[in-house]
Amino acid sequence: MSKVNELTIEERLGQEAYARRIAIERYRDDEFNRFVSRHGTYFKIHLLHPAVGAVLKALGLWGRGRRELLEPVVRENSVAIGPALPPEFDGFRILHLSDLHIDIEEALVESIARAVAPLRYDLCVMTGDYRSRTIGKWDKTMELMARLRPAFKGEVLCVLGNHDPIEMTPELESSGYRVLLNESLVLRRGEASLCFAGIDDPVIFETHDIGKALAAAPSGVVKVLLSHSPRVWKQAEAAGVSLLLSGHTHGGQICLPGGRMVKLNEPPPVRLHKGAWRVGNMMGYTSCGCGASGVACRLNCPSEVVLHTLSR
Ligand SMILES: [Fe+2]
Repeated sequence: MSKVNELTIEERLGQEAYARRIAIERYRDDEFNRFVSRHGTYFKIHLLHPAVGAVLKALGLWGRGRRELLEPVVRENSVAIGPALPPEFDGFRILHLSDLHIDIEEALVESIARAVAPLRYDLCVMTGDYRSRTIGKWDKTMELMARLRPAFKGEVLCVLGNHDPIEMTPELESSGYRVLLNESLVLRRGEASLCFAGIDDPVIFETHDIGKALAAAPSGVVKVLLSHSPRVWKQAEAAGVSLLLSGHTHGGQICLPGGRMVKLNEPPPVRLHKGAWRVGNMMGYTSCGCGASGVACRLNCPSEVVLHTLSR
């Protein structure tokens, strides 16, 4: 088994969670060609996704939808943490990408690289879903993620999503990404600290552990949590997280005019499904993502990369 930071992936995630994750990954691969299955994988891949694509083409919306996928918008989000944020981190900028599903469309490498090239930021984070499908091989995903890595300056922190097998972790890390498997990284500027923690997927694998992810955070430090999904908001707020960054919803991806979502893939509250939100003392942002799932197209919901600016 690959060793990262002297620990195996199994040791980093925890033995029980690792075994459970591997068992679910194998079950999902096994059900791939079963017409009737728990996750409806066959139905989605062979029937639903081609049908959605055909309808969009018939309606003359395909070209526009492709542009919405391949021309990401840059969104700015101000995060007023308050006096708990050390002056050394006032103005700290986080570049946030999510749901790349990069092997659905090779041109995403160029479109994302072009979008982030002019941006200034202190740290890049990614909130999961690098592979297009939930099953099958991921060698193409890793090839494209490696090609994309030079587009980012400095450290890139990642968490895995429900499309990502845990076994891709060593390959992502050898390409220069840093995967947080219920782990954290504490940044220091002089005497000041800022903690970035990341949890494993809470959607399908449910191998997330916020307590473990935050265990190494110094007392009183401002904590930013990366999670594939916003559904952990209650636990995150209770754990004293100041900012929860997530994705998974794609903002609906194929939406009605005005960006109204047709399909919800998260539990309520719906106000947490897209963009900036707040719960109690915790702020959050749920990214619409900069890729696509199922069909290589978006409608009334363009790809986005987000720049979060922290302030006191
Ligand atoms: Fe996704």
